[in-house]
Amino acid sequence: MDDSLFINGKWHGGKKTFTSLNPATGKSIGSFALGTKKDVEKAIEAAEKALPEWAGTPAPKRGEYLFEISRLLRKNKEKLAARVTEEMGKVLNEARGDVQEAIDIFEYMGGEGRRLFGHTTPSEMNNKTAYTIRKPVGTVGIITPWNFPIAIPAWKISAALIGGNTIVFKPSSDTPRCAADLVRILDEAGIPPGVVNMITGSASEVGNEIVTNPRIRGLSFTGSRETGKWITQHAGIKKIGLELGGKNAIIVMEDANLDLAVEGIIWGAYGTTGQRCTAASRIIAHEKIRKPLEEKLAGRIEKLRIGNGMDSKTDIGPLINEKAVEKSLQYSIIGRKEGKLVEGGKALDTKGFFFEPTLFTGVKPRARIAQEEIFGPIAAILHVKNLNEAIRVCNNTVYGLSSSIYTNDITRAMRAIDQIEAGITYVNSSTIGAEVHLPFGGVKQTGNGTREAGSEGIHEFTETKTVYIDYSGRLQKAQIDNR
Ligand code: UN1
Repeated sequence: MDDSLFINGKWHGGKKTFTSLNPATGKSIGSFALGTKKDVEKAIEAAEKALPEWAGTPAPKRGEYLFEISRLLRKNKEKLAARVTEEMGKVLNEARGDVQEAIDIFEYMGGEGRRLFGHTTPSEMNNKTAYTIRKPVGTVGIITPWNFPIAIPAWKISAALIGGNTIVFKPSSDTPRCAADLVRILDEAGIPPGVVNMITGSASEVGNEIVTNPRIRGLSFTGSRETGKWITQHAGIKKIGLELGGKNAIIVMEDANLDLAVEGIIWGAYGTTGQRCTAASRIIAHEKIRKPLEEKLAGRIEKLRIGNGMDSKTDIGPLINEKAVEKSLQYSIIGRKEGKLVEGGKALDTKGFFFEPTLFTGVKPRARIAQEEIFGPIAAILHVKNLNEAIRVCNNTVYGLSSSIYTNDITRAMRAIDQIEAGITYVNSSTIGAEVHLPFGGVKQTGNGTREAGSEGIHEFTETKTVYIDYSGRLQKAQIDNR
């Protein structure tokens, strides 16, 4: 068994374990500790004990730890990327991107240590000054998914650390080894004991305790909308950040560069085997170009090579687990009733969890495959008559994470930017490809208004304190004096 409980700077195993599989082969890559409620309590205790010193460390000094983490990640990039592919399945080149995103965010957040800006503003009275500073939330919980097993934990941990918080981290049970790899690097970089603690294990025990324990002052979660809803109902009064997925659309207007749009759709819909919150699962095509677009897409899909992500010839790696294959299969049955199958639709009859890149057309906006997040390599083409209808269809979802429009008409692009309800809009580019120095997050039921990454990412993990300093030497009454 691999030690995967990291409490107060020490690694432990657990009484009970679970296994993590290589999704390309279905074989075990190791067994990891099923943490308990007690383990979480110990981790909280360690994190609370470490808090005063970490919060009291000047932010630029905290930043130096982050720079060191970034350096160690860069040094180990190739090794880590291979381990991401082995445990999560994404093709090696994308796994390198996953690690690179972590390198970038630790570097970016390290730099934030010398900014952490507040506001300064005049007071309404003389001899009085007013400004804001950013303070840590306290001990925070971080619960992450498996699809970016290094990058997403890195977004959250880097922001939490630079904000001066201490952490209890629960990674997805599909990628515990990647999480342990990351935490080992934090440890190697010298993060003091108790500042970052990791507990692997089930959502029902470990996740439940992190969410409901009142000593956890802040919580950041990326995962399903159902779990997000549960969290909002059970977390009690704490600062919560949620990122709950998307049903992201690419609009293709009749004036678009079709070949460019095809590349963007293939990358958005089938990159990471469709397992991104930002994946493009709806293609909203102008009726005039729908046919040629469909044909071009079909031609490209046929050439995509499915296989083990370690093989440099592979375009599409496996899905994360058996359940994910079952889910894609169910949606491809539903899709056959709701539209016409253009390509794919089947699971591969081999070892590992493979599903063909799948495309439906003639799908109506209200259809289930146009409404529900599938998290697999399945996309649906919906056709529209004009831009107004395209935007209406694009907004016809409970989610609002990413979006894209392909057009060469600046007026249309600007209208789409104004009217699409999403946290991110791309023009002439796919729905995926967020960069770490810009805010990431969504509107509507994708989240609760927080953003990750960029300078806004720090707000999730800091509280604003407003400071008034009166040097008049007398009592000055706001709203009353100076009238
Ligand atoms: C996610 O799928 O939750 O923009 C994150 C992108 C990546 C991040 C995706 N940089 O697709």
